Amino acid sequence: METQTRLRRLRANPQIRCLVNETEIKKSALVYPLFIKEGKGVFEEIPSMPGQYRYGIDTLDRAAEELRNAGVKNVLLFGLPTEKDKTGSGAYAKDGIVQTAVKKLKGMGEFTVITDVCLCEYTSHGHCGALVNGVVDNDKTLRLLQKTALSHAEAGADVVAPSAMADFQVAAIREILDGNGFSSVAIMAYSAKFASALYAPFREAAASAPSFGDRCGYQINPANKREALREALTDEREGADILMVKPAMFYLDVLAEIRKNTLLPLAAYSVSGEYAMIKAAAERGYIDERRTVTESALAAFRAGADILITYHAKELAVWLREKD
Ligand code: PBG
Ligand code: ZN
Repeated sequence: METQTRLRRLRANPQIRCLVNETEIKKSALVYPLFIKEGKGVFEEIPSMPGQYRYGIDTLDRAAEELRNAGVKNVLLFGLPTEKDKTGSGAYAKDGIVQTAVKKLKGMGEFTVITDVCLCEYTSHGHCGALVNGVVDNDKTLRLLQKTALSHAEAGADVVAPSAMADFQVAAIREILDGNGFSSVAIMAYSAKFASALYAPFREAAASAPSFGDRCGYQINPANKREALREALTDEREGADILMVKPAMFYLDVLAEIRKNTLLPLAAYSVSGEYAMIKAAAERGYIDERRTVTESALAAFRAGADILITYHAKELAVWLREKD
């Protein structure tokens, strides 16, 4: 008589369970977001993201050391300038904060450097582009995004990641890069970027909340999956090398849908609000941080992500090592 079902047999023995494990978290696929701020000796904890810091150029060594110790190779850079203006000129300044950080990190010779290409951290109004009559003007914005991406490439970035959700941003950036001898620089497109409440801690970290209105004019309505797929397929046609879905945890259906419709590598961005929620609940003892973070990372890979951008990258990498 059969006393155990087949499923039970696969689950009950830890070695068999390991043998039939379908999804692995890949250390080489983890990307750590880094906030770099202008100023001397910057090392500031972000209040809504305990354990996450703003670094300065002269404290970047510390960030690099932590990444090295954990074994994380990939970073996504965000810049926090002291001066903001209407056209976000800090975003494309030759000696801007991100450009300087890219040079320094690439000089270390061990990191893959991805840069966020947007204007909201640099504009006085906090919108992701240049305004005309109070709304983001697509054409003007495209030109500024091109300048920004080019300056990042000139500094040595491996990958640029346009996140402004401007129409034709991928095509415009591909064109300027190719036209200036940077055809080897890849584009990771924030294809499906939803107008999410989960960006709040990031906006605190970057002081980049819009001073009026919201981003619903250019980010995707959380209700719309087909629209997200259209954005992703458009980015693929425009020349994106990697597509991204953001946030991750509330949008895994979107990720799975895009996975079915493209052969391009796909990234999931576990955003600041996801980090903050897990961190806050874990601090209160309501959930176990390690198990929750691991489960959430597995979910992203299971849904079809090839790359996971997460503020928990260093912890995940260490936990993976401990497991072996
Ligand atoms: C810039 C940008 C944002 C995030 C990544 N790139 C902020 C926004 O759109 O408001 C959010 C990332 C996070 O919450 O971790 N446009
Ligand atoms: Zn933006």
